[in-house]
Amino acid sequence: MKVTVVGAGNVGATCANVLAHKDFLQEVILLDIKEGVSEGKALDVWESAAINHFSTRMTGVTNDYARTAGSEVVVITSGLPRKPGMSRDDLISTNASIVKSVTENVIKHSPDAIIVIVSNPLDVMTYCAYLTAKVDSSRVFGMAGILDTARYKAFLASEIGCSPKDIQALLMGGHGDTMVPLPRYTTVGGIPVTELVSEEKINAIIERTKKGGGEIVNLLGTSAWYAPGAAAAQMVEAICKNEKRIYPCCAWLTGQYGLEKIYLGVPVVLGKKGIEKIIELKLNDKEEALLKASAGHVKEVMSVLDNMKAVAS
Ligand code: NAI
Ligand code: 2OP
Repeated sequence: MKVTVVGAGNVGATCANVLAHKDFLQEVILLDIKEGVSEGKALDVWESAAINHFSTRMTGVTNDYARTAGSEVVVITSGLPRKPGMSRDDLISTNASIVKSVTENVIKHSPDAIIVIVSNPLDVMTYCAYLTAKVDSSRVFGMAGILDTARYKAFLASEIGCSPKDIQALLMGGHGDTMVPLPRYTTVGGIPVTELVSEEKINAIIERTKKGGGEIVNLLGTSAWYAPGAAAAQMVEAICKNEKRIYPCCAWLTGQYGLEKIYLGVPVVLGKKGIEKIIELKLNDKEEALLKASAGHVKEVMSVLDNMKAVAS
């Protein structure tokens, strides 16, 4: 199986590296617009194969989409990251033109590919790729929920003093400060989290999770890459191995949760056809109100894209 990662920056290179270590693909193509960057990083990863015991062939190319032809999955990470003081939404116009042109090239060379978007603002860049690719929405979706949920689990694990592996949790909504963590759907080794952590501490963890991306930006001067790259690789693995994993992903809604014509984070089943099912939970009134508020914000940013005619057409 062949997978392409577009953008050999922090997130793209990390995603490609994690995919190589998982060792289930024949080939990973890493593509960037900057001459030499993807070639250098791909070669470095490939040179680690003998040490880390994987066989996945890693190849870097500069803007040569012919080499991506026939990819089963394409992960798009190309675009600017946030700097301190910026919101994800500040990236919209630059990243929309990048995501549009990349998606056109991807679909031209891999018409059957499943496309996983990572570029920010995530929900709207996924919408941009969907408008551009003109394929079924089950094949175009975004990575954010796995990352946001992983942050939530990390903070809970630190608080409880347990392994993040034992935490089952779910986070919905847009990839931004309006995201909706769901403590009612959070368990630790099968125990409801509310039995282990006080309401006050859970609320503080939820607030930290919502601002988790910004916390890293403030520390590093750019956005995160280890967890985002690993999250995108986990989605690729679920698709390529047809695992039917249930993950929160940014999916096109057609009436689920009373919402339509919007890309939003919801739990889905991921398999070889991409999003094979959107799972509809019974939300209580408070959770539903939070999800609607998050959807309202995403819709506002989607309308900015709709008004940028050159990008949306
Ligand atoms: P980066 O700046 O390290 O890498 C971006 C790469 O994209 C650069 O190497 C650049 O040369 C390349 N690029 C730009 N235009 C291109 C084009 N037309 N074709 C091919 N490559 C092109 O940025 P980083 O940290 O890797 O972040 C990438 C994107 O992912 C950003 O938009 C960032 O905000 C987003 N992100 C999203 C997350 C999520 O949860 N969805 C998490 C972390 C980052
Ligand atoms: C993150 O959440 C900035 O979206 C990026 O780390």
